[in-house]
Amino acid sequence: MDDKQIHELRIKALALIDSCSDLEEVEQARVQLLGRKGSITQALRQLTELPISQRKLVGERLNALKKEVEQLISDRIAQLERQKLEHLYRAEAIDVTFPAKSVHRGYLHVLYRLIDEICEIFHGIGYTVVEGPEIESDYYNFEALNIPQDHPARDMLDSFYIEKDILLRTHTSPVQIRAMEASAPPIYVVAPGRVYRRDNPDATRSPVFHQIECLAVDKNLSVAELKATIDYVVRSIFGHDRKVRLRPDYFPFTEPSYEVSVSCGVCGGVGCRSCRFKGWLEILGAGVVHPRVLQYGGIDPNEWRGFAFGMGIERIAMLKYGVEDIRLFFENDIRFTSQFGY
Ligand code: DAH
Repeated sequence: MDDKQIHELRIKALALIDSCSDLEEVEQARVQLLGRKGSITQALRQLTELPISQRKLVGERLNALKKEVEQLISDRIAQLERQKLEHLYRAEAIDVTFPAKSVHRGYLHVLYRLIDEICEIFHGIGYTVVEGPEIESDYYNFEALNIPQDHPARDMLDSFYIEKDILLRTHTSPVQIRAMEASAPPIYVVAPGRVYRRDNPDATRSPVFHQIECLAVDKNLSVAELKATIDYVVRSIFGHDRKVRLRPDYFPFTEPSYEVSVSCGVCGGVGCRSCRFKGWLEILGAGVVHPRVLQYGGIDPNEWRGFAFGMGIERIAMLKYGVEDIRLFFENDIRFTSQFGY
């Protein structure tokens, strides 16, 4: 091995190390150069074949080359490791100044939020939430509620009939019967849901709207418990500064029956434009469950007494939030609905 060959060996070794682009390639290069069968190792091994006179000099040169190559390899490893880290730092860096994507969260429709709130109020005083079907039979919707055959509510003009004796329920009261059939008293349930009536839509009427029905059946229930419950629920909804008034009314399924009003939140009951100078706003119908209705529900009226009331959710929402047109609840214009999102 002469100077020229050592020189070529060096040039090749340097080029090889230089060409390595990752740690694996560096390792391969190390094996090729310094491994057991590596070119430098082999050159060193061949020293013995040289005449003594050249051995020392060539040996020194080769050993120097070996050292240089070892150094270059460890430098290259260090450099590649640094590059790898830098790359990682750059890739994983978080740009805290980057503008965030705005996330639009969904929210419940105001009517359903109100239903949840009202159910929660009832829940707090021991009521359970139950549901009934929207497609209902004439029996549950009318007959079992003591609404006679010739009652105007049964008029084909008021109800959506699907076929004879099957209709879209006109109120949530049929759930009273279903609840009584489903469990023995004492019963304390509320039933929220959609109801349907053949009304032309206007500012206060919609062919589909929502009600919550309340039914309590227990021993010794009277108008006093009915009034106390209504008082608590209504004032929990509207505010405890509001007053609640019961006036006689008529419903076939209750006796006595009441129309319940809450004092106007704008004028405090004196009378103003928003309560049409009445000072009161009608919000629900109520009463002591008619003995015949208890019987239809399979409950002995001599042993048990019930009270019930039903309220329209839209009406309550309109009064609570100052909404003047019921259609706004159903048009789902996001400028309206988003006001109630949170
Ligand atoms: N179901 C009646 C309606 O839709 C509301 C109602 C009145 C429900 C009196 C009741 C009640 O439970 O006792 O107009």
